[in-house]
Amino acid sequence: MSQAQDRLDKIAKFANSTGFVYQGSGIYGGLANTWDFGPKGVMLRNNIKEAWRRFFITSRMDMVEVDANIFMNSRVWEASGHTGNFSDCMVDDKISKHRFRADHLIEDAIGIDVEGKSPEEITQIIRDNKIKNPITGQEADWTEARYMNMMFETNRDKIGNDPNQKIYLRPETAQGIFVNFKNAVQSERARVPFGIGQIGKAFRNEITPGNFLYRIVEFEQMEIEYFIAPPKTDEEWNQVFEEWKDLQFEFFTQVIGIKPENLKEKEHAQEKLSHYSKRTVDWEYNYPFGFNELSGLAYRTDFDLSQHQEHSGKDLSYRDPVTNEVYVPHVMEPTVGVDRLLMATMLDAYTEEELDGGDSRVVMKFAYDLAPFKIAVLPLMKKDGLAEKALELSQDLRAQGISADYDMTGSIGKRYRRQDEVGTPWCATVDYQTMEDGTVTLRHRDTMEQVGDGGRVKIEDLGSYLSSKSFQK
Ligand code: GAP
Repeated sequence: MSQAQDRLDKIAKFANSTGFVYQGSGIYGGLANTWDFGPKGVMLRNNIKEAWRRFFITSRMDMVEVDANIFMNSRVWEASGHTGNFSDCMVDDKISKHRFRADHLIEDAIGIDVEGKSPEEITQIIRDNKIKNPITGQEADWTEARYMNMMFETNRDKIGNDPNQKIYLRPETAQGIFVNFKNAVQSERARVPFGIGQIGKAFRNEITPGNFLYRIVEFEQMEIEYFIAPPKTDEEWNQVFEEWKDLQFEFFTQVIGIKPENLKEKEHAQEKLSHYSKRTVDWEYNYPFGFNELSGLAYRTDFDLSQHQEHSGKDLSYRDPVTNEVYVPHVMEPTVGVDRLLMATMLDAYTEEELDGGDSRVVMKFAYDLAPFKIAVLPLMKKDGLAEKALELSQDLRAQGISADYDMTGSIGKRYRRQDEVGTPWCATVDYQTMEDGTVTLRHRDTMEQVGDGGRVKIEDLGSYLSSKSFQK
């Protein structure tokens, strides 16, 4: 097994045992490339989404949000180009029945990029190079290479009475934003430049999914379409593009807490741009299998709104209320997948530390805002009312909106380690002194040191102390 695979397996096992990510349908032996999120995973996911909303949407006056339906009129996908263009070239091994993405198969086997080649040329390359099946390691009996659309078609062929509708699970959230552009302008009196964000599920029939949460068939996206007036020069749109790129970097490093050295920009070559894009830059993360896409930023011009205008027959132009100028806005699209970001966040936070005395620990160094629990309350002993006092304190903290855990099993040392493993920034210990003077010890996850006056903090100060930690490590 490769080192990269080893590290991924280790993280997946760790994520399972600590309640972040479970194998999907585990008791039935699983379902390939599906994952379920456990209690800590749900908290981490929600915190990531909330951090995104706060950073990009709710703290800004020029942003609104929509929550569009996963099922959309199939003409949306004709207009967006997904019906015609959203496909990967695949081949099957007739012996093992394994299916592969042809470009990945060739690239991994002989290092050739086949972008732009026809299925016939791709078939020839596979046969000429006698490429083996990478799963079995044996010679394969390859089918002809052919294109397969990646949209999941439901087996319900129509909704309502339109016999011509094919119903798909949406492959991106972006189109749910474009079709609601006019609604948002009218109901919100939104003025360009402004953006619409959306968090929601998307589905893709990926041929070779894998690498834990990296490429899955059901995932969640956090997308923004930021509408601007048609730029007069390349410089004009490039400046907006650069601003969004910087904002993405700031979000990943300052809010999510990813180490800057683990992020890298990748400019898409002109000839490889998607049909809708004039410029695309990905932020790549340093996964165990190398730098690969974490998020994207695309200048989609007026492609989508113009297409929807043409296909729907509805006027999607915008009239500026001050200048009276009428135009179809252009758009910048910063996008990132929740699952991929969660995986990068976990990989980045995962730290193994050697301690004095030959001991060691695993610490998830999550940013405070992302940590599933902000504090754990630990009674020193179960007896003499300490356990009851600690439980009461956890409940009080929860009532103040602070996610608090309570743990009374095992030695204090073991309990600290358990909280370190799930990234809880603070541990408060309720001891005999607590019963006398209402103070607790407060230990920080990263320094393992106690803070406060003489190493103690008053219970009534805990809430405000912890809320002041928001947006820092
Ligand atoms: N609206 C543009 C769009 O969908 P994309 O690059 O295809 O662009 C955006 O997807 C983001 O969604 C990616 O940067 C990635 O984070 C996430 N994503 C895409 N496909 C994924 C998959 N199969 N599994 C997990 N995340 C995925």
